[in-house]
Amino acid sequence: MSPSSSHTPSHIESITSFYTQARAESYDNSAFHLKLASSIVSSLDLPPTSSSTFRVLDLATGTGLVALEVAKGGFQVIGVDVSAEMLAVARAKAEKEGVELTFLQGDAQEPRGSLKTLVGVGFDRIVCSSAITFLLPNTSLLSWSHLLRSSPSSTIVFDVPSPESSIRNVLLSQISAKYGLTPRFNRRWITSKESVKEVVEQTARLVVRSLTGTGILSSKKVGTSKEKAEEVWEETLKVTNMNPYPEALSLGKITADQFAESRASFIEEWMKLGDGAGSEIDETMENWIVVCSLKV
Ligand SMILES: C[S@@+](CC[C@H](N)C(=O)[O-])C[C@H]1O[C@@H](n2cnc3c(N)ncnc32)[C@H](O)[C@@H]1O
Repeated sequence: MSPSSSHTPSHIESITSFYTQARAESYDNSAFHLKLASSIVSSLDLPPTSSSTFRVLDLATGTGLVALEVAKGGFQVIGVDVSAEMLAVARAKAEKEGVELTFLQGDAQEPRGSLKTLVGVGFDRIVCSSAITFLLPNTSLLSWSHLLRSSPSSTIVFDVPSPESSIRNVLLSQISAKYGLTPRFNRRWITSKESVKEVVEQTARLVVRSLTGTGILSSKKVGTSKEKAEEVWEETLKVTNMNPYPEALSLGKITADQFAESRASFIEEWMKLGDGAGSEIDETMENWIVVCSLKV
């Protein structure tokens, strides 16, 4: 499946409105994100000894989970994020821990546009952890490929949720497609490992070196009764990155009837995940880590 190729400025506004100060300050409490960032750092295959000439660019760095860990190894690190609130937390942590690195505010999708200082530097690693689904993947990967140091050992490392990960978001993505809605966190292009490889290789500049699963990063048991299904729907409404309906309704992109119909579909589909008697299911989160390098 080919990802969409349009990106509106309001997309950036909606991202920054989601990553508020409160969210930024509680972000590091997420065990899922801590584990994922740690897997990503392991996949960077960093040199065994510190080197201030080894450059790492962490795009959509958030609170700097990856950037700080890499910088502690003595490498030169730049973290970029669009959210001032997330960057404030990242900077405060760096200062507190006495770690030297640079954080810049800018768009990770086309960093060459908003951050001209990155052009011509030549990064040994470009990493994007838990964020490529906010971006247009093919536009981003092509742009990032131009920021890599021109060497076969330079890599881009990013992750995607596996297609079965977080079943509630899979359902939302499927149901909202009926009304042409796309969640801000867009995972529709991730249908199989092949579909991910296809997007990387569409850039014509990159090849996938490895694509591996992280294993289950989090799991919770959730019931499938009607009451539980309604509760899950209500929970999704609060995560506006995942559920496109509240915004679509407020902007008049869908009618109240269409909203009600979608809610009913979600509840029906959720109940079908169980055995018909409301049994619990395991809702798991697993990501795939993709390592790519320049085509030689
Ligand atoms: C789930 S957090 C991931 C943060 C960090 N990479 C980590 O692994 O913990 C997603 C981050 O992506 C950032 N983001 C989303 N779209 C972006 C864009 N177009 N440019 C820069 N940052 C973006 C958000 O501000 C947020 O900090």
